[in-house]
Amino acid sequence: MNNLNTLSSNEDIKDKIIFLRVDFNIPIKDGKVIDDTKIVKMKDIINKLLSKKTKIILCSHLGRPQKNGKEGLSLNQVKNKLENIFRKDIVFLNNYLNNETKNNIKQSDKELFLLENIRFYKEEEKNDPEFAKQLAKLADIYINEAFSCSHRAHASVTGITKFIKSYAGETIINELRSLDKIFNKSNKPVTCIIGGSKISTKIDLISNLIKKVDFMIIGGAMANNFIKYNNFEIGKSLFEPNKEETIKEIIAVAKKNNCKLIIPEDVIVSTNENIAGKNKNLSEIEANDIIFDIGNNTIKIIGEIINSSKTLLWNGPLGFFEKDFFANGSNEVAKLIKINTQKKLLTSIAGGGDTAAAIKKANAEDGFSYISTAGGAFLEWLEGKILPGLKVLEK
Ligand code: 3PG
Repeated sequence: MNNLNTLSSNEDIKDKIIFLRVDFNIPIKDGKVIDDTKIVKMKDIINKLLSKKTKIILCSHLGRPQKNGKEGLSLNQVKNKLENIFRKDIVFLNNYLNNETKNNIKQSDKELFLLENIRFYKEEEKNDPEFAKQLAKLADIYINEAFSCSHRAHASVTGITKFIKSYAGETIINELRSLDKIFNKSNKPVTCIIGGSKISTKIDLISNLIKKVDFMIIGGAMANNFIKYNNFEIGKSLFEPNKEETIKEIIAVAKKNNCKLIIPEDVIVSTNENIAGKNKNLSEIEANDIIFDIGNNTIKIIGEIINSSKTLLWNGPLGFFEKDFFANGSNEVAKLIKINTQKKLLTSIAGGGDTAAAIKKANAEDGFSYISTAGGAFLEWLEGKILPGLKVLEK
């Protein structure tokens, strides 16, 4: 993180136009923003830049318009929300790729400008150099405040930096500072809790982390593969076929690296997601059962590990938490993390959309040291991959 170009606090940016790459890729229903977390997170940062008498061009994507069509994906739907949060008029810019835009912004008595969904231009995802150059011409400096988009080699994330003075913003520095804690040897024991439904989407993550952490707890439907591998019945539970070699490899690498691998010892099963479940030991699972959550003993075991940990990373819910019947595992774990974090015994980091939702449901949002709003970028960084959007901002 020290190797990234950042704006120093004494740099004179007065009267400068800043091209700010943000992530306003947020859920919208019937034209209304239904979760403004990503915008609220930017409030102080944007206000701080504005207090230095700058003008800011906000650039974001929304969804996948090149794949799914533009309908319902205009960023104009976010304008009202932004105006309410910033208590300022926002100028929405639709056709802005021309020589007048920069001058118009300079002359305007407004400070905040919002570009239409950058992915409406096919050149964005192609990282077209001519397009990136045109974007750069709109402003004086570029700041990337979208860690969550930095795994994309797109024009507004990487290409633009070739043509304009470019910096990593506070969001990126904060995110990296938090993620770095997971790998800092002085913060041991380190525990990872990885849940979710598909082992294939988490295999790179588990394989990288297992070499570096002390405890790896596997939950969610993904754990069913491990339960089956250990020759227990999993009934009609979600399961990914042909993953035996993957599991074998994970177990071997964990052993080699002294990482204790924990899979559920008991589970909550039901025959239907709309019927409350029963707590069963693994040997009691029947052919008609579906595993929906971790059981009480498993919660106890995880609790003891959390109580003994100094650092914790959580990605992926431990059960079908969207249904109240099966939210207990994720709720209890979130609460335990909260207690330990608030007592300052634990540094806790969580990431991923579902995980954030599970934490919210458990009323534990104020009990984590850091909750990342990044999905793919968060995972890729933890998998040990180089994020192109960060690479281009290196000194
Ligand atoms: C996110 O929501 O994780 C980011 O905005 C990235 O979105 P993308 O996966 O469409 O690139």
